[in-house]
Amino acid sequence: MSDTPSPEFASSNDATPSNDATPSNDPGRFDQIVNLTKRRGFVYPSAEIYGGFRSTWDYGPVGVLLLRNVKDAWWRAMVQQRDDVVGLDASILTPPAVWEASGHLTNFTDPLVDCKKCGQRWRLDKLEDPDKCPGCKATGSFTEPRNFNLMFSTHAGPVADEGALAYLRPETAQGMFTNFKNIINTTRVRPPFGVAQVGKSFRNEITPGNFVFRTREFEQMEMEYFVPPEDAEKYYEYWKAERERWYLELGMPRESLRLREHEADELSHYSSATADVEYLFPWGWDELEGIANRGDFDLKAHTERSGERLDWFDQAEGVRYVPHVIEPAAGATRTAFAFLLAAYDVEEVRGEERVVLRLHPRLAPYKVAVLPLSKKSPLQETARALAAELRDEWSCEYDENQAIGRRYRRQDELGTPYCVTVDFETSEDGAVTIRDRDSMEQVRIPLEGVADWLRPRLK
Ligand code: GAP
Repeated sequence: MSDTPSPEFASSNDATPSNDATPSNDPGRFDQIVNLTKRRGFVYPSAEIYGGFRSTWDYGPVGVLLLRNVKDAWWRAMVQQRDDVVGLDASILTPPAVWEASGHLTNFTDPLVDCKKCGQRWRLDKLEDPDKCPGCKATGSFTEPRNFNLMFSTHAGPVADEGALAYLRPETAQGMFTNFKNIINTTRVRPPFGVAQVGKSFRNEITPGNFVFRTREFEQMEMEYFVPPEDAEKYYEYWKAERERWYLELGMPRESLRLREHEADELSHYSSATADVEYLFPWGWDELEGIANRGDFDLKAHTERSGERLDWFDQAEGVRYVPHVIEPAAGATRTAFAFLLAAYDVEEVRGEERVVLRLHPRLAPYKVAVLPLSKKSPLQETARALAAELRDEWSCEYDENQAIGRRYRRQDELGTPYCVTVDFETSEDGAVTIRDRDSMEQVRIPLEGVADWLRPRLK
């Protein structure tokens, strides 16, 4: 009987990358990746048993871990590791006054056209040819453009009258401005300081699409950094560099990531300068995050509308001022998807295809999988006990079904960085085999040393 993990292929160290000609941003790969996300439990169409619902998606058992890891990595870098940023979790339901002040009721619109021939609606500024309907291909069939407000409205309470009108927030940012006074009065922050928030936002997008890239319900990771006015330019440059670094550190390939400054006609109503962090998606460069210099627009607008003075008194200098705001605003759902695309790799190993998600260990849904070579005693008990020990620190898979090669394949597709195999020799030598996802190299280490071995590698 075999006493070491049966090799997944004839040799375990013979990976021959075969994907030079088809990088993961190749449009041909898009369908394969979307397919994998469904097959392996990352993302499902929402309400699928009822035929799905208008570009909404549910994150499955594996996807929820990836998404959570992206948000945790952002929180770690933006809040936990800094002494100048505090967190917030503000409400999604918001009264109209907030959106009047922020300008969203007037300005948060997209130009919409209807095709008179087929009845489909389009976002005019996103059409390749503003005169041609992408649906039925008719030309000159559009209505005059009209501004369509992207906010979802509802009513809070049992009476659906004007006084109960509320909006689902289209960005997390405003909660950080409306709580400015609360935060400076209840914590010891002083400019420059930031307030960070992760949470759901809602936009009634005219043309959602590209899988989870543009949806009507999505998650954002935003931070408002309040600075003395004269320092705004300096911190705008600082945050552009910091944010780009974050994506690179988590494994985004340099050649698939860029920073792009907005042209004057692209700027939002509140912004004097914005740069986007863009990823090279299968359909071209597109936005992951915007870093904006919002000036004093928001605090002044809310001061005017609410009557509450939202400013800062610098006691040392004896001056009062309205801080300016630098805002790095990222999409969590979109970013998780981009990390998935960047990680997807196909290689040929001894004539067989291997699909592997080369996710950074911090983002990988499962950090480790424990795989006993047999379901028999004592392998199963040892493996289960090891998995229980590892779960104390990491999300850990346990799988005892099918041939070991197939189990490795499954973990590769889930992006699990390490597989620990308990085999027939374990009870004699007290050791297990750890297999590396990327190199497929295997090392044998003492059973009781597994957690210590993994810890520095999963940081
Ligand atoms: N507070 C500023 C703000 O919300 P934004 O550029 O409109 O700026 C920030 O949004 C980020 O939120 C975008 O870069 C994108 O990643 C994400 N996002 C925006 N709309 C989205 C949508 N419909 N679906 C998925 N993500 C979206």
